[in-house]
Amino acid sequence: MTATVAVIGTGYVGLTTGAYLAHLGHTVVCADVVPEKVERLNRGEVPILEAGLEELVREGLDAGRLSFVLGAAAAVGEAEFVFLCVPTPQGDDGSADLTYLRRAVEQIAPALQPECIVINKSTVPVGSTRVVEQALGRDDVFVVSNPEFLREGSAVHDCLHPDRIVIGSEDQAAAMRVAGLFERLRAPLVITDPPSAETIKYASNAFLATKVSFVNALANVCEAVGADVREVVLGMGYDRRIGFEFLRPGPGWGGSCFPKDTRAMVRIAEDAGYDFDLLRGVIAVNDEQYERMADKVERMAGGSLEGTVVAAWGLTFKARTDDLRDSPAIEVIRRLRRRGARVRAYDPAVDHHAAGDAPQLEDIEVAADPYAACAGADVMVLLTEWDEFRWADFEKVAAAMRRSRIVDTRNLLDAPALRRQGFDYTGLGRR
Ligand code: UDX
Repeated sequence: MTATVAVIGTGYVGLTTGAYLAHLGHTVVCADVVPEKVERLNRGEVPILEAGLEELVREGLDAGRLSFVLGAAAAVGEAEFVFLCVPTPQGDDGSADLTYLRRAVEQIAPALQPECIVINKSTVPVGSTRVVEQALGRDDVFVVSNPEFLREGSAVHDCLHPDRIVIGSEDQAAAMRVAGLFERLRAPLVITDPPSAETIKYASNAFLATKVSFVNALANVCEAVGADVREVVLGMGYDRRIGFEFLRPGPGWGGSCFPKDTRAMVRIAEDAGYDFDLLRGVIAVNDEQYERMADKVERMAGGSLEGTVVAAWGLTFKARTDDLRDSPAIEVIRRLRRRGARVRAYDPAVDHHAAGDAPQLEDIEVAADPYAACAGADVMVLLTEWDEFRWADFEKVAAAMRRSRIVDTRNLLDAPALRRQGFDYTGLGRR
């Protein structure tokens, strides 16, 4: 089946959703509120770094199945399905801020076709499907929850090869119509009630964050007892109940989802009268992790960072994305600076000329290449797992640095090779 679809919001989720639905044969109109963004997208220019997305957008534009318009109301006139993909940032009290969602709903309500299905893809508190229904005030329109599980950096791949598709609906026929949009993907379908679908999204992110906090805590134990966390994870992972995924130690989890969704889940539980102590612990471990990384760099610098120069490799919250939101790398850099270090950073996804434009980078000094970041440095700390760091010329690195010392918070580099080259090297949870 092919359908006429509107997508409201062209962030990571909305733009990828619009582009891959057009790829699946549907006719898609995407709306955004920023005029320049709409113009650029209509020219096939994708403003985010996301593998394969620009190709998919151009394919949709060329085929005439994908277009971009200004304002939500302009997108929905013909639509049989409307996806809400607007941001739901963290509010002051930890709960999700639904301002954008409410605004979008108000704008589309009078313009919707009868029998149209409004699909909520934004991550929203449990019960929001009802909130959208009430805000729409249209008895002839269905509201369905369809949470998105794509990861930044592999968004297109994740959409085209989903582990599962979750649809939350009170109305079985509406759920089946939505499922029809994705039939070509041949993915397992979970059709359930809206509160369960909404909870699945939070629970999945909270559980994945728990795995990462677990392995980060485990890495501390491994360091203390002389074990190697990579060997421990290998031995654990063959147990299929545990698996290998999301057990890579690092400087802490970040990005646009885990920090906001874990806090929102704690808040949702609290509002419902349950203290989600376990998840608060997971968040606390993560907050401590930034501090621990700064401690490691400080120890490597000889006990004090006062007056030192630190090179930081990586600024984005993970590799293969240009997203700086809630990046652990930036959290660690801030702590290093507070302790008296001058930090010079490099990231392959951050243009050093334009770095000042990113609010997250404020006054962080950004170098043109990894070697320039190392000039005169007392310690280099690797914070994001970009592949190119693995293949860097470490003779050049040693020549640029004042002292050959590396803290590798992603266990990315070849420790024995670096030690042979004369580096003082420390990773996470390994000797
Ligand atoms: C996440 C979920 O994976 C995705 O399903 C959901 O739709 C949105 O949130 P994303 O934010 O893109 O996706 O990042 P993800 O790849 O999950 O990584 C989150 C954080 O955990 C990153 O900071 C990453 O570096 C860290 N991480 C992940 C680790 O430190 N170790 C791991 O083993 C895995």
